Amino acid sequence: MADYRAKAYDQFMRPLEWLGLRGWRWQLLRRVEPPVLEVGIGTGASLRWYNGQWPLVAVDREGEMVRAARERAVALGSPAAIGQMDAQYLAFPDATFASVVTSLVFCSVADPVQGLRQIRRVLRPGGRLYMLEHVRPDHPLLGPLADLLNIPWHALTQECHLNRRTADNVVTAGFKLESVERRLGGAVNLIVARA
Ligand SMILES: C[S@@+](CC[C@H](N)C(=O)[O-])C[C@H]1O[C@@H](n2cnc3c(N)ncnc32)[C@H](O)[C@@H]1O
Repeated sequence: MADYRAKAYDQFMRPLEWLGLRGWRWQLLRRVEPPVLEVGIGTGASLRWYNGQWPLVAVDREGEMVRAARERAVALGSPAAIGQMDAQYLAFPDATFASVVTSLVFCSVADPVQGLRQIRRVLRPGGRLYMLEHVRPDHPLLGPLADLLNIPWHALTQECHLNRRTADNVVTAGFKLESVERRLGGAVNLIVARA
């Protein structure tokens, strides 16, 4: 059975999935081309939105998340290969994947530019990165508010940041931005970038 933390994560996320995440996952994932790597798969919430885009490889830093995602893959009949790995140290050869997907991960990666550089390395030239991430809102009031709330939030969660400038980090890591779609007043971004 999956661990307690993975189950608690699913309970916490269920209302958010219905409030928007499911639709955004679908909008992003229907566009990916195989072979696909998903980084930070968590409990596998995105798995049901892949539609024959195999091979699909997925990784997460946490063993309990890997176990939960594997259970979900079996339940869905998904042929995804899921393993434990840190985004900052991907153990795949250069130019392995046509698409890389992340959702709600780069708020937590300790060194996001290092993780994004690793993703660019394992993407084929011209391959695409698809991200669904909560970010620092680009609103003149909400941005500074996110900076303020980030202090207790990061202390509480020990990993998540409310004010990451993820699209800027993607460019710093050497990608060419293709699109940044704003959701929830800019607090959530759907980002597509080319390696
Ligand atoms: C908020 S959860 C999102 C899970 C899933 N992608 C989703 O959309 O529900 C963040 C996940 O990213 C993983 N993660 C955080 N930092 C990571 C890193 N450096 N490398 C790989 N996975 C990481 C965490 O273990 C966790 O499972």
